[in-house]
Amino acid sequence: MTLLSRTVPIPGATDPMLACDTQSYLSIAAILHRETGINLPQDNSSLVVARLIKHLRRLNLATFPDFVNWINDPAHADDRARMISALTTNTTHFYREGYHFDVFVRDLLPRLKMAADRGERIRLWSAGCSSGEEVYSLAATLLHHWPEAGSVDLRILATDISADVLRTAQVAEYPRERLDPVPEAIRALMLRDAAPGAPMVRMPAAIRDLVTVRYMNFVEPWPTRGPFQAILCRNVAIYMDEAIQTRVFTGLADMLAPQGLLFIGHSERLPPSLSHRLTLIDRTTFRHI
Ligand SMILES: C[S@@+](CC[C@H](N)C(=O)[O-])C[C@H]1O[C@@H](n2cnc3c(N)ncnc32)[C@H](O)[C@@H]1O
Repeated sequence: MTLLSRTVPIPGATDPMLACDTQSYLSIAAILHRETGINLPQDNSSLVVARLIKHLRRLNLATFPDFVNWINDPAHADDRARMISALTTNTTHFYREGYHFDVFVRDLLPRLKMAADRGERIRLWSAGCSSGEEVYSLAATLLHHWPEAGSVDLRILATDISADVLRTAQVAEYPRERLDPVPEAIRALMLRDAAPGAPMVRMPAAIRDLVTVRYMNFVEPWPTRGPFQAILCRNVAIYMDEAIQTRVFTGLADMLAPQGLLFIGHSERLPPSLSHRLTLIDRTTFRHI
């Protein structure tokens, strides 16, 4: 990782000490990498400053070296977790990379229905779910095309490391305009219980009941064994270095059921070591052999 050797003043700050010096930046980057696998972009202490300044102020700490000392104290694990949460990129939206949902309906859904008819359990996973837009896009799509989905043995797991986004995913309430990218019929399902014109929309219970929201960190032991018939792990590994990406994607391949689907982000690539186990069937969509 190439890192900068300059300091970046905090926007609006008058105190020149309130800048992220190189040593603090390196320490923060090392903690983030160790605890999440995320590589901070090169030469980006302005991002660190912008995202952490409110935490320095909240903790009444005057400088970044003070902050690094604080979060290195084992007694301050909560503040370290808050720092990690602040440094993760949580960008997401409903029906992001919407073609994946078409592939899901076309390729997997008929097989899921047959599996349910045979009494088999169905498990799906949104890994790195952020605030839940991805998992509720999937759950609503499923319910729209398969209204009986709620009465078979089907669960969708949604996991992330950031407590802030997990809270939103758990509550499943969003500003109405965030539903704009959702196809009309599926949006109608999401809006079923919403008061007309209400600015906030909570996903109806029938959608929420399909979903289990949990903390999970890819660089800690995985508490789930699968198998999953589909895993969406999109725009998560892209922030990690190559070795960790390989570990994550290999772990996900191990969790896939035979013929299960893995969806990754449009800028992500699977390691060559998985090419004999996963076949590309559509854009950034792979089927386990
Ligand atoms: C950019 S969001 C992607 C959200 C969604 N999958 C999508 O494509 O819209 C990336 C998410 O990955 C999560 N993440 C980052 N590192 C992680 C790790 N080590 N384990 C689990 N989740 C992680 C972040 O907290 C963030 O919410």
